This record gives sequence, structure tokens and C-alpha cells, in this order.
Amino acid sequence: MAIKEVMVIGAGQMGSGIAQVCAMHGLEVALQDIAPEFVARGFSRIEESLARIVKKSGLSESASRETLARITQTTSLDAVASADLVIEAAVEKMDIKKSLFMQLDGLAKSDAILATNTSSLPITEIAAVTSRPERVIGMHFMNPVPVMKLVEVIRGLQTSEETYRVVSDLARTLGKTPVEVHDYPGFISNRILLPMINEAIYCLYEGVADRDAIDTVMKLGMNHPMGPLQLADFIGLDTCLSIMEILHEGLGDSKYRPCPLLRKYVAAGWLGKKSGRGFYDYRVEAK
Ligand code: 3HC
Repeated sequence: MAIKEVMVIGAGQMGSGIAQVCAMHGLEVALQDIAPEFVARGFSRIEESLARIVKKSGLSESASRETLARITQTTSLDAVASADLVIEAAVEKMDIKKSLFMQLDGLAKSDAILATNTSSLPITEIAAVTSRPERVIGMHFMNPVPVMKLVEVIRGLQTSEETYRVVSDLARTLGKTPVEVHDYPGFISNRILLPMINEAIYCLYEGVADRDAIDTVMKLGMNHPMGPLQLADFIGLDTCLSIMEILHEGLGDSKYRPCPLLRKYVAAGWLGKKSGRGFYDYRVEAK
């Protein structure tokens, strides 16, 4: 099965990045969100990212224009009917994902694949609400999608070999490296990344070192491009907390308990870069 038409559900940071990368590699893309302003914001994020790539990496102006022309902006789910692949990148709430997948299942061609970009919700459970669980799979891109080379391809319990192969091949076509992962809480990326971030927050909470010292240790000592506290701000502290809760509940081990300081920041609405304040203050500090 060749993937030519992709529908991306959700035009946020991840959805717009996924739509961009698909369009850059010649696929026809419908980018959907529930309100026109969300779609427009996603589309302008794509324009900015392409402008950056034109400036820095020698993508031609015409290739950039052709990429943009391959993306249709929409607030309806009509384009699901002709899509070979739907990639869902909507909010990380299980009830919303389940009702969306029920709708997508009813609208999509019988051989279309339904993928979710979820960072930690169980693929097996999402697949079970559809009539095609063997064609449901996790396709977890990393942020920023145009830059990061990894796609975790997560097999639900029911995912078929054919679905796994088509999606892994597509990830390669998009210039990414697919990695096969089975469906357990946090998959691989967030099972390893989030406990590290949580531990960095514990270091801050217990006064082992201050924010800048913790980030400097990991940047200069371990060659990480960003320190864990800055990365937490970049991911969103509410997202970090929700992933830690999924790990804690799903794996049942106290080593995954979310740091009380993380809970306090989220309670204060200090959600990181997107809210203007997290471990860093983006209203005054250029990060
Ligand atoms: N679109 C296009 N290009 C972009 C871009 C974007 N949105 N953002 C950055 N770039 C490009 C830049 O143009 C530049 O390209 P060049 O190498 O050709 O010059 C390159 O990326 C580096 O960008 P900058 O020089 O502006 O900035 P940095 O060197 O600080 O790199 C970064 C930025 C790539 C984001 C780097 O800081 C990094 O790798 N950070 C860690 C990212 C990470 O860990 N992501 C995973 C998050 S976890 C996740 O996604 C899972 C989820 O489920 C929680």
C-alpha cells in the first residue's frame, strides 16, 4: 500500500510539524483542527519553519512554495474519506482520542491506516474502539518535528505486520529513522526522558543545585543540547506531569512518582514556554 494522501488531525506544534514534513516529501496533506484560527496558526508555523530552512539549509523558494501548496487547511473531517493515512495529533486526553478514533474509523477508507502521535496513551486501548484495530498504530514524532530524526513506531497488541511495515517505510520516506517499540507506558522515549527530567526537578526541589547549575551539568557534562529543566519548559510542564502520572499508574513503581515541585508549578499555571513561565521566565529571559 502506497501512502499518497495524509490527513493530520490537530494543527498544534506537533500536528503542524508532521504536516510540514509530509508535504516536504511530496505527500498531499489535509491539516485539520476544530477552529479556523488554530489551523491558520499551524499553517503560519509551517511558513516560518520553511522560511528558516530556506535561509539555513538551501531549500529553494519554489520548493517551499510547492510544499505549502500541497497542504490544505480545513476544519472538517471530510478529507478523511480519501486519506491513505490519518495521523492524529490532537489533545492528549483518552476520552477525546477514543471518540475521535470512532469517528475516523467510520469515515476512512476500509484499508486506510489510523495513526496516533500520542506521547504516552495506550495504542491498544485506542485501537480497540475501532473496527480495524490491526490498522491502528502509534507514530510518535519528536519536537521540533522538522529537525528531530526519530519516529517511535508503536505496535498496539492488535497492530498487523503490514501496518507496521507501511508506517515504518513512510517514516523513512520522510527522512526519519523509525524505531520499533511495543505498547507499554511512555514507550521508550518518555519512559527514559521523563524520569530524568523528574529527577532534575527533584534536584531543584531538594536544593542540591540551582536551575542553571542543573542544566549546565547536563549540557556540558553529557552533551545534551538543552538542560532537563529547559527541555521540560519546552515540552510543557503539564505534559511532563501527565506523562509521569501515566508512568506511575501504568508501571506501579514509586520511582515514577511526580516531584511535588512539578505539581506545584502546574497548579500555578507555570506551564513552561507556552505560558511564558516555567523554570525559566520567558517574559524577561530570551531562551
Ligand atoms: N523548523 C525548522 N528548523 C528548525 C526548527 C523548526 N521548528 N527549529 C530549529 N530548527 C533548525 C535550525 O534552523 C537549525 O538548523 P541548522 O543546523 O541547519 O542551522 C537547527 O535546527 C538548530 O537550531 P538553532 O540553532 O536555532 O537552535 P539549537 O541549536 O538550540 O537547536 C533544537 C534547537 C534542535 C530544538 C535543540 O535545542 C534540541 O535538539 N533540543 C532538544 C530537543 C528534544 O529533546 N526534543 C525532544 C523533546 S521530547 C518529545 O518531543 C517527546 C514528547 O512526547 C514529549
